Amino acid sequence: MQLNLSGKTAIITGGSAGIGLACAQALYAEGVSVLIAARDRERLAQALTAINDHAPESKAEALAESADVSTADGVERVVARALDTWGRVDILINNAGSAPSGDFYTLGDDAYHGAWDLKLLGYMRMVRAVAPQMKARRDGRIVNIVGAAAHNPTPTFLAGGTANAAIINFTKGISQDLAPHRVRINAISPGPVNTERARQLARQEADAHGISVEEATARRIASVPLGRMAEADEIADIALFLVSDRAASVTGAELLMDGGATASV
Ligand SMILES: NC(=O)c1ccc[n+]([C@@H]2O[C@H](COP(=O)([O-])OP(=O)(O)OC[C@H]3O[C@@H](n4cnc5c(N)ncnc54)[C@H](OP(=O)(O)O)[C@@H]3O)[C@@H](O)[C@H]2O)c1
Repeated sequence: MQLNLSGKTAIITGGSAGIGLACAQALYAEGVSVLIAARDRERLAQALTAINDHAPESKAEALAESADVSTADGVERVVARALDTWGRVDILINNAGSAPSGDFYTLGDDAYHGAWDLKLLGYMRMVRAVAPQMKARRDGRIVNIVGAAAHNPTPTFLAGGTANAAIINFTKGISQDLAPHRVRINAISPGPVNTERARQLARQEADAHGISVEEATARRIASVPLGRMAEADEIADIALFLVSDRAASVTGAELLMDGGATASV
């Protein structure tokens, strides 16, 4: 499938690991210059190597910016680096998120502020920072990586679940402002994906329920009708499709990639 993305530029938050790294690798392989943003500099450097190794023939550029995108400063710095380097941002993949699992009565306000600042406010700030130049150029493609917990609330994942539900509301709401300017924004909501985060969540769920990590992992997989975790590459493939002209009429949509777990209309 011809995606015609070559020559475009993209920011991927949380691009040093998991789903974000898979999206950066997939975009780079299509000839898209990528700026990955995350906090840990060493992991960013390793990710740049992984991106280059994934598609050594790519003529695109791969850059990294160390920033905490749960802060307004961090978001500003990431977007300024991209605009200073390329003069434009064609694609934004909002992906950085790390809401904890845990017992509702034990998790303090910090857990909620941390999750909402990073994922909800972080995604909104990124859109606010990149959208004006997209609207002015009448071209922009944004994907928010959300999570099926938006639709399937559980008492031990309310920081993440509430952030995800709010991001769906944000995605659909702001899509109406962006659409007349030919800027599209869509959401992908994965179920369990085989990344370090999934392993961390399994450890936290095990603690919250007083069970082993193996049991917590098995319960999570058992909740997926397709019977397995998705791989990060699968999420990247759908992100690639959504930012391409193949999805030119798709905006304000949410694509559930949860192996059939969400059974609501
Ligand atoms: N894995 C799943 O099962 C699953 C399911 C549904 C939804 N999701 C969503 O998918 C997204 C990616 O998850 P993942 O599994 O790929 O996670 P991951 O493997 O833990 O990777 C998270 C990435 O985000 C970065 N990050 C975390 N906090 C950050 C901050 N404050 N500022 C900048 N970067 C930050 C991390 O780097 P640093 O730590 O170095 O900053 C890393 O690059 C998240 O939004 C998550 O909620 C994941």
